[in-house]
Amino acid sequence: MPKLVLFLVWFSLFHTGNLVVQALTSASDISVLKAFKASIKPSSIKPWSCLASWNFSVDPCSVPRRSYFTCGLACSPDSTRINQITLDPAGYSGTLTPLVSQLAQLTILDLADNSFFGPIPSSLSLLSNLQTLTLRSNFFSGSIPPSITSLKSLESLDLARNSLSGSIPNFMNFLTSLKRIDLSFNKLTGSIPKLPPNLLELAAKGNSLSGPLYKWSFDGLNQLEVVELSENAFAGALESWFFLLPSLQQVDLANNSFPRIEIPKPADGSSNLVAVNLGFNKIQGYVPENFAAYPLLSFLSIRYNGLSGTIPLEYSKSKSMRRLFLDGNFLIGKPPARFFAGGGSVTGSLGDNCLQNCPGSSQLCTPAQKPSSVCKQAYRGKPRH
Ligand SMILES: *[C@@H]1O[C@H](CO)[C@@H](O)[C@H](O)[C@H]1NC(C)=O
Ligand SMILES: *[C@@H]1O[C@H](CO)[C@@H](O)[C@H](O)[C@H]1NC(C)=O
Repeated sequence: MPKLVLFLVWFSLFHTGNLVVQALTSASDISVLKAFKASIKPSSIKPWSCLASWNFSVDPCSVPRRSYFTCGLACSPDSTRINQITLDPAGYSGTLTPLVSQLAQLTILDLADNSFFGPIPSSLSLLSNLQTLTLRSNFFSGSIPPSITSLKSLESLDLARNSLSGSIPNFMNFLTSLKRIDLSFNKLTGSIPKLPPNLLELAAKGNSLSGPLYKWSFDGLNQLEVVELSENAFAGALESWFFLLPSLQQVDLANNSFPRIEIPKPADGSSNLVAVNLGFNKIQGYVPENFAAYPLLSFLSIRYNGLSGTIPLEYSKSKSMRRLFLDGNFLIGKPPARFFAGGGSVTGSLGDNCLQNCPGSSQLCTPAQKPSSVCKQAYRGKPRH
């Protein structure tokens, strides 16, 4: 008999009992888990936390789990591979070992609300089964590794509230499974690249992103429902294609530097748009009348911009509008009387403008209008609308 077969016979004769009890989990996955735990400061591993229960003298995937490996990970149904790491928010401090990329069956990596620091390993791109990558609320720094654009199974990418810098990688459009991106509250710069084609939600608030929103970045995003890009440095005209994205529901572009917006009538009179926040930008010109034609629009803020002219009568006729903020502009004339009739169904503010006869009894008219000297200054030499 060949030596190997002899060895196997010997091995099975003497070690079968052991084999059944032990060595469920692949040895390589166990060594990755050891490296994962070893890269976290022991002093940050609280006795009651999941990681404290990771005791490698027992098998991570053995069942039932009594006192060890009680949480923080999940195994494949056959108990041989680690397929989820979902850490508890226990204040773990440490780096994320690049070796985690060897957990080939991993579908979820969630380290949210801890104190991980250092770079996001570019080797994560090897996790071809990864569906959810959640590193939010840690101290990860450096740039988003461009290699993540090869994560073909990725559905949700949440890197919000870290210290990531550099730009959003190009070729995000290769992420054909991606439905949700949240990059909010980092230090990202540059503009929005071409986006994943099946995206539902895009959030990147509170960064230093700039440039216009380019049509080619959003081309073909027929499922995009939520766009949250407030508190950045976006500028350039916001053109009519944007509000015609067919699934758009919520748009928050407040606290940017948009100078101009083009609001088209909704295509075929139908649109899912519910909420639009364009407050604290640099928008000049008249209040866009076409917003009143969006049948479901119930929240609209264009507060604190440079709008002039009158409030479109159509706004007061809208059946969907519930909250309207036009305060902090240079609007003139009399506000539409319908706003104040019968108690009025619209709340918000028309204050801090140059309006006449805004009834002080209405909450819509607080705060007070601008002093007339400021209004005269603003309209000096310009025709009144
Ligand atoms: C790990 O498990 C072994 C075997 O059950 C046990 O003897 C040991 O005390 C455990 N170590 C810790 C730190 O709990
Ligand atoms: C937007 O900017 C205004 C004026 O600078 C500021 O008062 C407000 O807090 C900002 N809003 C957010 C959400 O940052």
